Amino acid sequence: MEKKGMIAIILAAGEGKRMKSSIPKVLHQVCGKSLIRRSAELCGGLPLEKKIVVVSPQGEALEKELPAGFEFAVQEKPLGTAHAVLAARSFLKKWQGDVLILCADAPLLRLETLKKFVEKHEQDQYYGAILTGRLPNPTGYGRIVRGGNDEVISVVEEAHATVYEKAIEEINSGTYCFDWPALQDALNEIQIHPEKNELYLTDAIQILALQNKPISAYCVDDAHEIMGINSRAQLAQAEKVLRQRVLENLMYQGVTLIDPASTFIDETVEIGQDSVIHPFTVIEGEVKIGRSCEIGPFTHIRGGTNLSDRVEIGNFVEVKASQIGEGTKAKHLTYLGNAQVGPHVNVGAGTITANYDGEAKHTTQIDEGAFVGSGTIFVAPVQMGKRAVTGAGAVVTRGKNIPDGAVVVGVPAKILQQNSEVRKQK
Ligand code: UD1
Ligand code: CA
Repeated sequence: MEKKGMIAIILAAGEGKRMKSSIPKVLHQVCGKSLIRRSAELCGGLPLEKKIVVVSPQGEALEKELPAGFEFAVQEKPLGTAHAVLAARSFLKKWQGDVLILCADAPLLRLETLKKFVEKHEQDQYYGAILTGRLPNPTGYGRIVRGGNDEVISVVEEAHATVYEKAIEEINSGTYCFDWPALQDALNEIQIHPEKNELYLTDAIQILALQNKPISAYCVDDAHEIMGINSRAQLAQAEKVLRQRVLENLMYQGVTLIDPASTFIDETVEIGQDSVIHPFTVIEGEVKIGRSCEIGPFTHIRGGTNLSDRVEIGNFVEVKASQIGEGTKAKHLTYLGNAQVGPHVNVGAGTITANYDGEAKHTTQIDEGAFVGSGTIFVAPVQMGKRAVTGAGAVVTRGKNIPDGAVVVGVPAKILQQNSEVRKQK
């Protein structure tokens, strides 16, 4: 059968009341990525004619989260999922192809699964397809009611389900493909549910079925994939499932995790082969770690950090927005923020980069082969030259750059020796 082409619509305009949050639900994160960004990235992996996100009138914050190529439809009031699709109508004028509808609150869906689902729909002769899954406790989800030929005849929301329907374990993921002209006709027939004051997209299924426009269902193997996030508890569950996936993927790529159960790594982190991550380590945001590094235990590495190969970052060390050169070590009780550290530097215990002056963040540059004595404080912006040395407890003040090879001591740090032989080049 000839492919008709597809347009994606991501529904992201709901109030997310059950989150009890002052920020939109879809901006909450799992493993370092917002829910909306995850849905948007899924769309990036599919051949689509157009990508539309339905947002609330306060949706500007969402626009920043999305990669290029999305169009924004505004749903003036959150009057339900069918109403949200209708809000995208003006972007679909004269469209005769299919639409892929995604809910922005389902962060565990895998691209491979979505691709298979879309392909199946394109091969089938149905007017629509629903991605479903089987959950032992389907509370809160719409139940899939199948007819004699296994086609879907309706989706019943929890609030309206009979005891028999509630016993159905197959649930609606909120991901659908539809023939757009057929869906549009059905949307026009949907009646408001007065008790919730909402138009349900799921009502379109029964309307189409009664018009003899059959709907198929594709049931995923791993029901986690279709989990929707409505509450903070579900957000934490999703985080756990996704974290496991992230950690397994890292181990598969050749990273040793001593104890995955106490290791917290965002999906945005890259780690090279033969690096070892010790327990109680948190690595978050956009971070790149090279090969054969040794991280932890009790280490916090934050966004914007880049570690070269063979770097050692030990216990109670926090590194943020810093570049650390090959073979450099910071093994105990240290804060490196906005630091540019060269290769083969030894950062002594208790070293602090005082990067913030109350107004802006400043850079500390520590050059190749430098030896930073225990308890050194760098008041940024400041630079320490190649193979220079600071004595224990030195406070290197703002702008008082240390020349190459010099030894400085004291508070504020003063030059003790100009060209020390203490540090030979490696
Ligand atoms: C919905 C489905 C349910 C399914 C579940 C899967 C309906 C009526 N029910 O329920 O069958 O099992 O998802 O997780 O569709 N949204 C808007 N505008 C609105 C309302 C919602 O854009 O006016 C968006 C939300 O931002 C969210 C998505 O639509 O991304 C789903 O809305 P939500 O309220 O979470 O629906 P559920 O009650 O979870
Ligand atoms: Ca939901």
